[in-house]
Amino acid sequence: MANSVEYKLGPNTFPRGWFIVAESKELEVGPIRLRFFSQDFVLYRGESQDPIMLDAHCNHMKTNYTGDNSRAGKSSVLQIEGDAIRCNRHARCYTADGEVVGGPGADDPGPKLATIRSYPVVDNMGCIMMWFDPDCGKPEFDPPFLEQWNDSQWVRWELDHLRELPIHPQELLDNMADVRHLRQTHGCPSEYFENEFKDHLYIQRQGGVMQEHNTYLYTSTWYTGTGILLSKQVFGTTAMYELIANTPVEDGVSKLWHGCLYRGNNTEANDEDEMAAKKAQARALAAFSADFNIWRYKVPALRNIQLQADGPFRLGRKWYSQFYAPREETDSIQENLNGIHHTKGVPTPAEYSHDIDHDLPF
Ligand code: FES
Ligand SMILES: [Fe+2]
Repeated sequence: MANSVEYKLGPNTFPRGWFIVAESKELEVGPIRLRFFSQDFVLYRGESQDPIMLDAHCNHMKTNYTGDNSRAGKSSVLQIEGDAIRCNRHARCYTADGEVVGGPGADDPGPKLATIRSYPVVDNMGCIMMWFDPDCGKPEFDPPFLEQWNDSQWVRWELDHLRELPIHPQELLDNMADVRHLRQTHGCPSEYFENEFKDHLYIQRQGGVMQEHNTYLYTSTWYTGTGILLSKQVFGTTAMYELIANTPVEDGVSKLWHGCLYRGNNTEANDEDEMAAKKAQARALAAFSADFNIWRYKVPALRNIQLQADGPFRLGRKWYSQFYAPREETDSIQENLNGIHHTKGVPTPAEYSHDIDHDLPF
């Protein structure tokens, strides 16, 4: 894509980290095909019921075994056997780890070596989250998890599947430092604001009056890696966590999801709470669409002009670069950035009663 190479973030085209690739419920109907990171994948549950994610191309002749090559009278459904999957061209069989275990030629020493790549995936908060690393490394940190997901007072999200955006994910993360857009884009000017970097976490704390509702809104928002944002939001008697996730599809194209985990009024959330949760998620989505529409129509900002009154865009981009950098450079990037950063002329959370972080993972 036109807006990709000039970012010069590191040797890899895509960042490593945890990314949402599907909702867990999508696997109820069987294996699904996916395309992310300019690659084709297959995602399915085998006998173990654990999610399994493999490259979609058989290593024998590079057939995409998620493709439909059905012949008359024979189902085109992917063949899952135990936790293994069978290629529908010559019937070679791959385990959940991507090793060949059966089919013609499976005993040949050559083809035996022809494993395909398997990816770490977990069921987490109604989503399938994948660890992606172009260099095939193991996960360096855990995916985010909210204790409230298992609390019956809280109503779980049903994710909004948003369209793909023609934008580099770096520009989505620029919003973490963008104190000034909250007034103009969202009608909720920050009265105080700060950013913090903590290793693989990028945190924002802020608060201000939502002008439309005349209610004070406190938010603590954090990215875990580059793909998954969670935001605790408290206003009036309402508390919820908003999720905004992005996963690169191609270089310069990102797919987005959105949802809200909402605290009901009853120890066991009832229909009324479910209804209120749906409304809250719809309101949050409407607010988010203001950002979404800006991203949708903007052109790449390879360099932002950072004014003194802007938040620390440049530091945010430096933090972002750690997920592209060779692993041996990650520690020094983190050490240089870790800590709290304030924005000139903007009061700090300490000067206001920002007190919503007690159950957050930082
Ligand atoms: S291409 Fe898959 S078994 Fe031959
Ligand atoms: Fe925004």
